[in-house]
Amino acid sequence: MAGQGEIKYKTLDQVDVVGKRVALRVDLNSTIDPQTGKIQLNERFRAHSLTVKELMDRGAKLVVLAHQGRRGDPDFTDLKQHAEILSSLVGKEVKFIPDVVGAEAVNAIKGLSKGEAILLDNVRRLEDEDVEKAPEEHANSTLPRTLAPHLDIFVLDAFSVAHRSHASVVGLAALLPTYAGRVMERELSALNKTVALTNKIVFTLGGNKPVECIKVLQRFLKERPESVQAVLTGGVLGQLFTKVRGYNLGGPTEDFLMKKKYVELLGMISEIDQKIGDRVIAPLDFAYAGKNGSRMEVLREGLPCPGEIQDIGSKTIQHYREIIKGLEPDTSVIVKGPLGVYEKPEFRKGTQAVYMALARSRASTLIGGGDSVTAIEILGLRPSDFTYVSLGGGALISFLSGEPMPGIQVLAKQK
Ligand code: 3PG
Repeated sequence: MAGQGEIKYKTLDQVDVVGKRVALRVDLNSTIDPQTGKIQLNERFRAHSLTVKELMDRGAKLVVLAHQGRRGDPDFTDLKQHAEILSSLVGKEVKFIPDVVGAEAVNAIKGLSKGEAILLDNVRRLEDEDVEKAPEEHANSTLPRTLAPHLDIFVLDAFSVAHRSHASVVGLAALLPTYAGRVMERELSALNKTVALTNKIVFTLGGNKPVECIKVLQRFLKERPESVQAVLTGGVLGQLFTKVRGYNLGGPTEDFLMKKKYVELLGMISEIDQKIGDRVIAPLDFAYAGKNGSRMEVLREGLPCPGEIQDIGSKTIQHYREIIKGLEPDTSVIVKGPLGVYEKPEFRKGTQAVYMALARSRASTLIGGGDSVTAIEILGLRPSDFTYVSLGGGALISFLSGEPMPGIQVLAKQK
C-alpha cells in the first residue's frame, strides 16, 4: 500500500516538559520577496507557531531549530525575520540568536527560564547539516554533538523535512528522547487517513516538477492500480502525456521540454500511458501568449502551438470542472501543483477554475506542495476550502510514494 503504513510514535501528550530544555525542529523555509527581501508570511509559520506557543505555555525552555534555503542559493538567509514573525504569531518573544552551535547559542540555551523561547540561526550554516546520513552517524555531526548535552528532549514538528536525513532532523533523535510535535502529528494522521482508507483516488497533477508526479503515479500503479479512478493533468505533465500520444506541441514548448531534459521522462510517461492511459486525461486545449502577451488558445487538434504553452485551455477547464463536480464523497482527490503559470494573471484561469471546483467538491481534497499552497493564497482561497492542506512539498511526495522517510523512522523507533 502507498503511504507509510501504520506508524506508532510518541506525542507531546506523553511528556512533561515543565522546566525541560526542549529542542523543537520546525520548518519555516519560506519564499522571499525578491524586490523587498522580505520573508512571506505563510501557513508554515501559522502552524508551527501553535506548537511553539503550547510548549512555552507548558513551561518548557524552548530552543527552536529551523532552516532557510540552501547554502549558495539566493534565499539562503539568517532567521532574524523568522523570529519576528514567529514572535508576533505566538504573542510572546521568540528571541533570535545569530549563532547555531557556538558559545552564544550554548549560553543562550543555558540562560533560558521556564516558558522562554529562542530561535537559533539557520541550521544549514553548518556544512555537515544537510549531508544525508543515518541517525547514528549524524549523532556525531556538529549540531547534535554540540547541543545535545545542553538539551533534555527533542520534538520533531517539521513533517516537511522528514524526507531528509539531516543532522537537525535525525541526529538529535539518536541522542535524546524524541516526540512528534503537533504539526507532525496532524500531517501523519490526516495523510494516513487519506491515503490508506480511500479506494477511489483522483489525481490533479500539474506544476513544473513532473518527476515528482511520475513517482507518485508509478507507486500507485505498483501498489493499487485499481484505486486510481482518473488523473487530470496540466502543467508539464499534461504536455508530456500529450506528446507521447503523438502530438507535436510546437517549437517553443518542445524547446523548453528539451532544455529542461523533461523529454528524458517520455519513456516512463509512455509506460504509465500503456497501463492506465484510459484514465489519464491529457489537456484538450492549451493557452499560450500571443504577440502582445495576451492569452490565446489552441485546440489539441490545432497543434503545434506557435507560443510556449502556459496553461490548460477553456475546453479542458470545462471538462475537468465537470469531472470534479461529479465526484462522490467517498473519493479522495490528491492535488499536486498548479495547472498553469498561475503567477501570471492571464495564465491563472486553469488553476483558478480547477481549484475553485475542488473547493466546492463533495470529494475529500488533499493538496500539498509549496506552489499549490502559495497558489491557494494568491487565488483568494483558504486552506479550509480543502479537506487537508499539507505543508510538505517533497515530503508529501515521498509520503505518498511510500518511500522510507528518515524523520518518521526516528519517531517510530522511540521506545
Ligand atoms: C521544503 O521547503 O519543502 C522543505 O523546507 C525542504 O527544503 P529542501 O528541499 O531545501 O530540503
